[in-house]
Amino acid sequence: MNVGIIGSGGREHAICYMLNKSKKVSKIFCFPGNAGTSLIAQNINLDPDNFSVLEEYCIKKEIKLLVVGPEKPLVNGIVNFFKRKSIKVFGPDKISSKLEGSKIFTKKICQKNNIPTSKFKICESLKETLDYLKRGNFPIVIKADGLASGKGVYICKNFNDAKEASEEIFNGKFGCAKQILVEEFLEGEEMSYFIVTDGKNYKFFGSAQDHKRVGEGDKGKNTGGMGCYSPSRLLNKDLELKIKTKIIEPTLNAVNEQGGVYKGFLYVGLMIKNNDPFLIEFNVRMGDPECQTILPTLNTDLFDVLISCCDGTLNQTSIDFSVSKSICIVLCSKGYPEKFENNIEIKDLEQIKLLKNQNIFHAGTLKTVNGLVSNGGRVLNFVSTSDDFLKCRDEAINLIKKLNWKYGYFRRDIGHKVIKT
Ligand code: AMP
Ligand code: GLY
Repeated sequence: MNVGIIGSGGREHAICYMLNKSKKVSKIFCFPGNAGTSLIAQNINLDPDNFSVLEEYCIKKEIKLLVVGPEKPLVNGIVNFFKRKSIKVFGPDKISSKLEGSKIFTKKICQKNNIPTSKFKICESLKETLDYLKRGNFPIVIKADGLASGKGVYICKNFNDAKEASEEIFNGKFGCAKQILVEEFLEGEEMSYFIVTDGKNYKFFGSAQDHKRVGEGDKGKNTGGMGCYSPSRLLNKDLELKIKTKIIEPTLNAVNEQGGVYKGFLYVGLMIKNNDPFLIEFNVRMGDPECQTILPTLNTDLFDVLISCCDGTLNQTSIDFSVSKSICIVLCSKGYPEKFENNIEIKDLEQIKLLKNQNIFHAGTLKTVNGLVSNGGRVLNFVSTSDDFLKCRDEAINLIKKLNWKYGYFRRDIGHKVIKT
């Protein structure tokens, strides 16, 4: 079968790499992909948010399955658009995607179904927000309702920070805002839990913890993710049962009751306190770099997983992961997440010999007539799996050292909570 992948990051290169290993996949097209995907697939530079143009191309190239990496096309309704067509789309429909597309939608589901999450207040104007904040406890969390590329969350230490955040949101920093979410600040340790579902059944798809801050020791500005380790150190049977019964199942049922069909990956972002899970957020996709970290430990053919979700036959597919530990370190452009330069040559990447347990997934890279160049903040992902987190990290760092890209920056402490040195 010919398959299309929407997206251009490390997550999509990892998906492309796994699908390329499947005997059932003939040709892969990436919309638009990156220099890494171009080595194993055909990159197509068309706007994946223009569904009609995408459909036309898929028909022409006999693409029968579309895998959606990022949230935007899902929130915009790509699954609904393709519903009665002969092209399968792996991902949740428009209603289900509101779990990521609207934080207020998710909070209302939590409230109605007693799903453990932080206490919250929805405010309809700046005045109402400020009046509420005057009585609030700090730190407090202020969130824009809609998609904000990971930038719509403010952890506010005091009233002034919270006022500034609320003003930014109501002034339209993330698009027209009629409502704002004010949340209690949760203490604990974060964990990401993943499932894959066909709309009826769901299965575990790994756990992980990413490092969002740019600096070592988890300090500095927030980024898309500087690295990740899997599995999470917090996961145990008791906790897992609570995550499933108190959070995942009531949510999938609630989405169903509202007429949604949730097929695809669900990323459950949690705060864990005393072995109890509290929902921070849902994402309706795999994480990046969580995807690059988890997929190399998947033993099952990824194509089988994806197609059985589309066909509603996930209960007939067993999903098997190796017991390996995995670490991904992101090499980013110096200056990221603030100002950085693009179009800087990356030499000799292909000279690096990878062992079976190692992968390099591209993100912000571009193939030009003059060779490989950087094309974004997060440039390359170095992944190593083994039975020991320290070994994973040492190997990933050694690969980065071999590349010796002087314009790059990476964190040497990824996984510090699971590595005692
Ligand atoms: P989100 O985009 O909702 O995942 O938020 C981004 C990050 O902000 C999360 O990964 C947490 O580190 C932090 N965060 C969000 N909501 C809360 C909360 N209620 N309490 C503590 N930290 C939070
Ligand atoms: N690594 C966080 C995310 O993908 O949203």
